Amino acid sequence: MDEDAARYTSSAAFDTEIYETTVYVNAAHIKMLEKQGLLNRESAEKALTTLRHLLQTRQTPPPTVEDIHIYLEQLLSEKAPEAAEMLALGKSRNDAVVAAVKIEVRRRAYKIADMALDAVESLVRKSGEHAATVFPVYTHLQRAAPATFGFVLQSYAIRLLRCCNSLLTMLEACEESPLGSAAVAGTSVPVDREYIAQLLGFRRTSLNALEATASREFLTLVLSPLHVTALVLSSFAEEIVLYASEEFGLIQIPEELAATSSIMPQKRNPVVAEIMRTKASEVLGLLATVSGILSRQPSGYNLDLQQVTPKVWQAFREVSESLHMMRKLVEKIEVNREKAWEACAPPTAAVELANHLTLKHGIGFRKAHQIAAKISRSIAEQNLTQERLDTIFQEHGLKPLYAIGEVLSLMNPDAAVKRYTAPGSANPTMVSENVEKLLKTVEEIRNRVEVERRVLEDCLKRLLS
Ligand code: ARG
Repeated sequence: MDEDAARYTSSAAFDTEIYETTVYVNAAHIKMLEKQGLLNRESAEKALTTLRHLLQTRQTPPPTVEDIHIYLEQLLSEKAPEAAEMLALGKSRNDAVVAAVKIEVRRRAYKIADMALDAVESLVRKSGEHAATVFPVYTHLQRAAPATFGFVLQSYAIRLLRCCNSLLTMLEACEESPLGSAAVAGTSVPVDREYIAQLLGFRRTSLNALEATASREFLTLVLSPLHVTALVLSSFAEEIVLYASEEFGLIQIPEELAATSSIMPQKRNPVVAEIMRTKASEVLGLLATVSGILSRQPSGYNLDLQQVTPKVWQAFREVSESLHMMRKLVEKIEVNREKAWEACAPPTAAVELANHLTLKHGIGFRKAHQIAAKISRSIAEQNLTQERLDTIFQEHGLKPLYAIGEVLSLMNPDAAVKRYTAPGSANPTMVSENVEKLLKTVEEIRNRVEVERRVLEDCLKRLLS
């Protein structure tokens, strides 16, 4: 092959990502050939010893070699020529690469699930500390209601838990072994597909060789929860940037997670959060890129498919890094309690006044809403007097119902959050109660991840120990 063409089409550079798992796939194939009487014991042992060595020494393929599969076969041929000679008997790069990718996806998914759970745990623990710390929540980025900082943190914890669950669900396709499918239509070689699947920790074997060797949409299913995680991280980062600005002033980022300006000494720039929201956007692009590569693919392996996996690894990498930084931010963030309280001060809880008018005085909610709106405006304009308050009621055909103090105490943020009764509200007691529930969920998912990881890692360890 022309050297430029070889470099141009090679996957060697990014095959380093599946180096280990490809070694395992080869080891399993060798064992299977031996079991089936297609390779003698001595040759198989020699090959396994070589593969064990290759696993430990991690060789780097030169940039002109087609891919890791060709490279490993070359390396094997130096130390175990009989086995190398038979390596492609009943095994193609097409089924081998999907097998290696699926195993690697599972490994990374378990790792990233752990990181997401760590971030969730920090969010939840911090939410417990701030269950009653009054903090505003927004709609249309306008102050909407008093809530608590713990309540806001828990919303992120729940969003991340959902991503984590869906990632684990999406791993189903990666639990199916393609090995024994050969290049596209199966093989006449008497391969033992069940055996090789077991050796590599797959739960079952695939049903159709054409699908097994050349479908890659399952990677978009894996990418989706990462994509959604990036969306959550992006909102989180954006909120940090906004809330830490002097205009909002609701939170403070610790010095070690911020940068100062090289010229304006007063500044504490939220650079970690800025990079987080941008890395998230980069990840969002990956799903589109992968979908682009996968569209208009005729059935059967095409080399286009090799370009998909680097995008998947990139998503794993960037989302992991951001989850790690999210956790650090969460642990160190401080609430500017006065500012947060002020943002919740009357008239922010105006809806509570309207609710009171309806629930205690039997006024229809639409009318109550209009009255509360007038009172709110007057508070915001700082011209609410007892006289003005009475007039507002009279304008609606009602006798005066409240003294100013009562109105203000109905809208007092501390009191308002305590009055929320519906489950799921920003009531400090409920936020506190949710801490235990959420931590329990974290533990359950952690255990599930650990069990699944063990099954896989024990198989791999046994294979080349
Ligand atoms: N390097 C390819 C990939 O990563 C695997 C090789 C398949 N090549 C082939 N000519 N059938 O997908």
